[in-house]
Amino acid sequence: MDKAEQEQHTMQLQDILFAQGFGTRRVCAGLIQQGHVLVRSAATGEWQPCVDAGTEFEPEGLRLRVQGLDWVCHVRACIMLHKPAGIECSQKPSAWPSVYTLLPAPLRQRPNKGAVQGVQAVGRLDQDTTGLLLLTDDGQLIHRLASPKHDVPKVYEVTLKHPADTSLCAKLLAGVVLDDDPRPVRAAACELADPLHLRLTLTGGKYHQVKRMVAAAGNRVEALHRSQIGGLKLPPDLAVGQWRWLQAQDLALLGV
Ligand code: URA
Repeated sequence: MDKAEQEQHTMQLQDILFAQGFGTRRVCAGLIQQGHVLVRSAATGEWQPCVDAGTEFEPEGLRLRVQGLDWVCHVRACIMLHKPAGIECSQKPSAWPSVYTLLPAPLRQRPNKGAVQGVQAVGRLDQDTTGLLLLTDDGQLIHRLASPKHDVPKVYEVTLKHPADTSLCAKLLAGVVLDDDPRPVRAAACELADPLHLRLTLTGGKYHQVKRMVAAAGNRVEALHRSQIGGLKLPPDLAVGQWRWLQAQDLALLGV
C-alpha cells in the first residue's frame, strides 16, 4: 500500500486519536466516551461531540477538538521547527532543554512506527545553532534526507570570529581535511556576504561539520544558523521556537 492509499483509509476514532499521540488506546477510548472529543464536520464546519469510539473517519485532514485542543490529523507527522539557541536536539538531553519540549503533547507522544520511535529530528543541530530543523515519524523520509545518494544540500549562515576574504571560500570549496577522515570535505557553495558573514552550502552531515570545516580553513564560527534544506527555506514568518506542518509543496522542495 503506498502513502496516498494509506492516507485514504477510514479508521476508528479511538485508533485515530491513538495514532495522533493522544495517549494509549484505553485513554483515547475514555476521552471519546466522556465527551472530550469534538469532530468538525467538513460539510458544515460545525463541531459535534462524538462519543462512540468505534465511529469511522478518514483520518487525513480530520479536525478534532480534544479537551479544548484544536488538532488537524496528519497520518504522517512531518514538521519544520525554527530551532532556538540553548536547546538540544536529543530526546534525552544532557545539559540543555530538549527540542521536543517545543512540540505539543500529541507530537511528543506519537506512537512508534516500526523502527521510528515517535517523531524524530532529521539530523541534529548543535545546542547553539539556530534555524531550520525537520522532524518526522516517517522512516523513509528520514532515510532519504540522510542518504548520501540524495545529497540534499543544507545552507548555513555563518558568523565568523575573524574577518575573512574570498580566500576562505576558496579553501572551503577546494576541500579541507577533518580529523576523522583523510578525504577532504568540500563545500558545495560558499559566498562571503561581508568579512564576517559567510553563506555555506554543504552536503553530507558530519558531526559539527561547519564548525570543523571553518576551523580547518583557519577561522572560527561565532554563530551558526541553518536557513535552508534542499529547496526549502525557513519561512520568515516562522518565529523562533515555533513549528508548523510541512505542506505538499514543502516536501516537494526538499527534493527527496
Ligand atoms: N555544522 C555544525 O558545526 N553545527 C551544526 O549545528 C550544524 C552543522
